[in-house]
This record gives sequence, C-alpha cells and structure tokens, in this order.
Amino acid sequence: MTAPIAAPPAIAARAVDATKVYGKGDTEVRALDGVTVDFPAHAFTAIMGPSGSGKSTLMQCVAGLDTLTSGQVFIGDAELSSLSEKQLTLLRRDKIGFVFQAFNLVPTLTAEENITLPMDLAGRKPDKEWLDQVVRTVGLADRLHHRPSELSGGQQQRVAVARALASRPEIIFGDEPTGNLDSRAGAEILSFLRDAVKQMGQTVVMVTHDPTAASYADHVLFLADGKIVDRMDEPTADAVLDRIKQFGR
Ligand SMILES: Nc1ncnc2c1ncn2[C@@H]1O[C@H](COP(=O)(O)OP(=O)(O)O)[C@@H](O)[C@H]1O
Ligand SMILES: [Mg+2]
Repeated sequence: MTAPIAAPPAIAARAVDATKVYGKGDTEVRALDGVTVDFPAHAFTAIMGPSGSGKSTLMQCVAGLDTLTSGQVFIGDAELSSLSEKQLTLLRRDKIGFVFQAFNLVPTLTAEENITLPMDLAGRKPDKEWLDQVVRTVGLADRLHHRPSELSGGQQQRVAVARALASRPEIIFGDEPTGNLDSRAGAEILSFLRDAVKQMGQTVVMVTHDPTAASYADHVLFLADGKIVDRMDEPTADAVLDRIKQFGR
C-alpha cells in the first residue's frame, strides 16, 4: 500500500497556442508555431516528427525547462509563465520527472544513491514502499549497490527512469530516452514506462522518432514544422510507419 494522494486533474499538462521563435529576421526559426494540445493524465503520449520539427522544443517548454515566445503552458492548474523562478523550480522538482538520452548519472554514487539523489538534495524522505515498488518494477533490486560504470547502458537508463519516478511526479518527460540503447534494452525501458502508466498510474510524455518506441504509447502526436499535423490513438509500429511514409518523410 502506498499513501493516498489527491486525485490529479484529468489533464496533466496543456499547451495553448504555444509559439517559440529562435533568432530574429533572416535567421528566425519558428520552432513551435501555435501548438495547442492536452496531455491526458495516467496516459503515455509519444511526440513524433522529423528532425527539426520541434519535438524537443515542445517538450522543454511544456516541462518548464524553456520558455515560450507566446502562448501558455499548464502543468496541472499552474500556468508556467505566471510562476516566479522559485515557484517554477519547486514545481519542476516536485511534480516533474525527466529522462534524457544521456543517462546523466553521478559516477561516484551507487544506483540507489543516484535514484534518491534529487530527493536527498530537496531534503525529502522517499516513500519507502513506493521506492521499493519502483525498484522492483524496474528490475534493479540486485543492482542497487553498483556504480554506473558497473552497469550496462540499459541498466543505467533504468536507474535514470527509477530516479525520475522516485518522487512520484505527476508527469514524466522523456526526450529520446531509448536513443542510446540497443533495441532490447530500449524495449525494456519502454515496457517499464508503459507499466509505470498502466500499473502505477503515472503520466508519461516521450519524444521519439522511432515508430516502435511510439507503439508503446497510448497516443501519438505528429509534429511537422512546429505544428501538430496529426494524432493517433492505440498506435502500432506499422500504423505509425505508414503514417510517416504518407507524409513523405
Ligand atoms: N537554441 C536554439 N537556437 C536556435 N534554434 C534552435 C534552438 N533549438 C532548436 N532550434 C531550432 O528549432 C527547430 C526545432 O528544433 P527541435 O525542437 O530541437 O527539433 P526536434 O527535437 O524535433 O529535432 C529546429 O529548426 C532547430 O534548429
Ligand atoms: Mg530533439
């Protein structure tokens, strides 16, 4: 049993007319061009699109790591631009988990210490039962006292995923989290993210350009030139691949 928590809103995150422009004049790039989208709670959403379509920019702006040029982003009820820098830092710390392509583990710490590091830094005690469940589900119980250099790439990324889940965030963002892994290790991470959604009620938003990775999600958003051009529910790898081919990319 884990401690009861208040029911989160049905929409975990939302972008409204999100626009991000880099540069000025001749060098202007419209990385996001009026994106409006809801990310449902307790669901796994994949963001797909060709290189340069704005996937990372969308994720970073929705996750509060970057700011929009215009438009709004909500995490739960909080509109990010209305928050102070301090409030934003706390929201990122308490409500959001991140998994990137690079594992970003601290080499001198054990797997377990890496997993609890963000909470230790925040001076918070991990919920022991939740942490046990995370470690069990992610299949790391016998690796907790190993350092990153003693773990395979797949195991290191599992540590990174466990770290993202440890504080029981309301939403987890991943940018190509399986991009550095072979297909088997990638499949393990993707299965785990799916289990975290199905069995633990987590919310996951993942950027990927891989149709197989996207097939683990409940919903897929397709971006092109900074706009959402399509979406798909209950995707299969074949359906996603067909969809991409249809677009000629
Ligand atoms: N910091 C930046 N400065 C200038 N242009 C950027 C910056 N970050 C991204 N871009 C541009 O914005 C567009 C979208 O980039 P990005 O969101 O990284 O795409 P994706 O993740 O889909 O490959 C690209 O044209 C990219 O070159
Ligand atoms: Mg990217």
